[in-house]
Amino acid sequence: MVIFGAAGDLTRRLLVPALCQLARSGSLSPGFRLVGAATGERSTQQWLAELEAARGEDADVLDAASWRWLAERMSYVRADLHDAQSFRALASHLEALDREAGTEGNYLFYLAIPDRLFATAVAGLGGAGLTREGATRESSSRWRRVVIEKPFGHDLESARSLDRDILRFLREDQVYRIDHYLGKETVQNLMALRFANGLFEPIWSRNHIDHVQITAAETVGVERRGRFYELAGALRDMVPNHLFQLLAMTAMEPPASFEAAAVRAKKAEVVSAIRPMGEAQALANSVRGQYRGYRDEPDVARDSTTETFMACKLLIDNWRWAGVPFYLRTGKQLAARRTEIAIRFHQAPLSIFRGTDVEHMHPNWMILRIQPDEGIALEFAAKRPGAKVTLDTVSMDFCYATHFKLAPNTGYETLLYDVMIGDATLFQRADNIEAGWRAVQPILDAWAGNPPRDFPNYAPGSSGPAAADELLARDGRAWRPLA
Ligand code: BG6
Repeated sequence: MVIFGAAGDLTRRLLVPALCQLARSGSLSPGFRLVGAATGERSTQQWLAELEAARGEDADVLDAASWRWLAERMSYVRADLHDAQSFRALASHLEALDREAGTEGNYLFYLAIPDRLFATAVAGLGGAGLTREGATRESSSRWRRVVIEKPFGHDLESARSLDRDILRFLREDQVYRIDHYLGKETVQNLMALRFANGLFEPIWSRNHIDHVQITAAETVGVERRGRFYELAGALRDMVPNHLFQLLAMTAMEPPASFEAAAVRAKKAEVVSAIRPMGEAQALANSVRGQYRGYRDEPDVARDSTTETFMACKLLIDNWRWAGVPFYLRTGKQLAARRTEIAIRFHQAPLSIFRGTDVEHMHPNWMILRIQPDEGIALEFAAKRPGAKVTLDTVSMDFCYATHFKLAPNTGYETLLYDVMIGDATLFQRADNIEAGWRAVQPILDAWAGNPPRDFPNYAPGSSGPAAADELLARDGRAWRPLA
């Protein structure tokens, strides 16, 4: 495995710890080798020392034994992505490792680099023959795979153009467009919940569901990522990728099998069914916010109009979901760190509790807690004990940590393992990504043409701007409280 961007944040915080977890669980073969590539001049020892220093900050993720196992298999090479010679040098380094460790020319390249360099890196790999699979009879089974981080493009047109660029050197099945949300146990479990139980699917439609709320709230700000975030903003950073994965898992039709092609087709289909909006609708159905203090963050413009919060209302035009709004919200510096899908069922059609103390009926909710406190809860009304008839909302709660003793998992462990075994089920196909961009493009365009006038408009530690509440209030609904 070769990581481009070996000195970066993603490598240090997520990729190397995930590889350690895989080493710990015995999922990596002894012949595994990890090559770090980056622009800086440093020795392998220096690279290891840098990662080791980061290990100190997060000792329980990088345990000593698995780190040692991995460190023995790591090497560093300097690579300038614009220089063909760098790629030739990398190719020789990899050939030497093939001989030493028996890696048989099977290479996984991970692009943990800024998105503007994705096409350059793939072209460099292609130019050095590193994307070619099975060139000779002896090497006919060797594979070459490229993992591409998000963001895949910054709008529909750029995503298409990136696809054209990389597919000059790679076949579609060599490309693994990653969205780490798909590696999360709780996200994958959505398929089990819906399709391994007879109970839920019959009520999983407009006939029984009033609306769906998808929330990805963070308490952190942009931290050291100001430069990236200024160009991205909450919408691009979270919606066409992570939130749409959650939406797709919630709303997709049952695939005929668990095969990658079947699952990915159903997901792309439902995202493509999101109703297109004109400018006026896009403005009416979306809300953007910026937290107070964002403009003082490092690498952020003093008059930045980048949104750190967004909420929107989407409709899915198919028979299952006609008329059921999907409300999405995401933001930084909010009151709580919480990613969840909340499904609100219809009220009981009639209250039979006339003449009692029951003032109003309690709606049923199913809450799929993606993180933290991973689990699933079903809320329903129950009679409070006592002579009087009064109701309370109670909850049946399944908690992953108590039932399954969850190992720490960021999502990357599963996904890295899947690339190694060539299973693309949890990766995004080009049509999936394009469908996502197509759905958010009207909002991007409407916002670009109508700059925000009220930024910053929410306090750190709050639930976001007031307009987000109004978006639901207009429909006679309310967000589930964040804190
Ligand atoms: C990343 C975004 O893709 O996902 C970040 O770029 C965000 O801005 C992160 O913080 C959230 O991931 P998680 O796993 O913490 O929900």
